[in-house]
Amino acid sequence: ALPVPPMSIRFDQGAGTLSPEGPTLTRRMSDLEGLFRDSEAWAAAVADGDPIVYSVVSSPVPEIDRELPQSITTIQPGTTAGELWMTKGHQHPNHQGEIYLCISGHGGLLMFDGTETRWVDMTPGTIGYMPPGWAHRSINVGDEPYSFLAVYPGGAGHDYGWVLEHGMGQRVLAGADGLDFVNYVEG
Ligand code: F6R
Ligand code: ZN
Repeated sequence: ALPVPPMSIRFDQGAGTLSPEGPTLTRRMSDLEGLFRDSEAWAAAVADGDPIVYSVVSSPVPEIDRELPQSITTIQPGTTAGELWMTKGHQHPNHQGEIYLCISGHGGLLMFDGTETRWVDMTPGTIGYMPPGWAHRSINVGDEPYSFLAVYPGGAGHDYGWVLEHGMGQRVLAGADGLDFVNYVEG
C-alpha cells in the first residue's frame, strides 16, 4: 500500500459509500462460523439465503504503520436464536487503541481483555474508546441498521483467532425486556 496525500473523505449515508473509497468488505452469515452460541440456528440461516450481516467500507488510507485508517461498519438488525447480530470481533495483536463514533442506529461495543468484559452503549454522537489489549465486537441492539466510524492505527493488525479461542466474556441476547447478557459458554 502506498501513502496517500492530505484529503477529505465524504460519507454518503444513504448510499453507504465513502468517497474516495478504499477496500469494502461484506460479511455474510457464513463468514461468522463458530461465533454464534447456537450453531444449528447459524447453519440454518446460512442455508436459508446466507444473509448479509454487516459491511465495512474503508477510506483509501492504507493499513501501514504510522498511518491512521478509517472505516465505516454497518450492521443489519437481526437475531440468530435470540443472539443479536454482531461483528466477528478481534484483538489488535500489537495492542493499540482505537475509537468508534456512532453515526446512526443503536448499537453496543463489547470489550474483553481476557478477564473482564465492558459494554458501551452506542447512539449517534457516542465515541467508544477501546484501550490497547481489549478485544472488541460490535452488536446491533436496535431494529434499524447500526453504523459507526472506526479510526485505528495502521499497524495495529487484526487477530480473529483470538476471539475464537478466548470468546468475548459475554454474549448479548434480545430479551423480552431489553438486553440479556449471558456468560460466553457453549450450549
Ligand atoms: C478496525 C475495527 C473495525 C472492524 C469492523 C468489522 O480495527 O475494529 O473497523 O474491523 O467493525 O469488525 P470485524 O473486524 O471484527 O469483522
Ligand atoms: Zn479494531
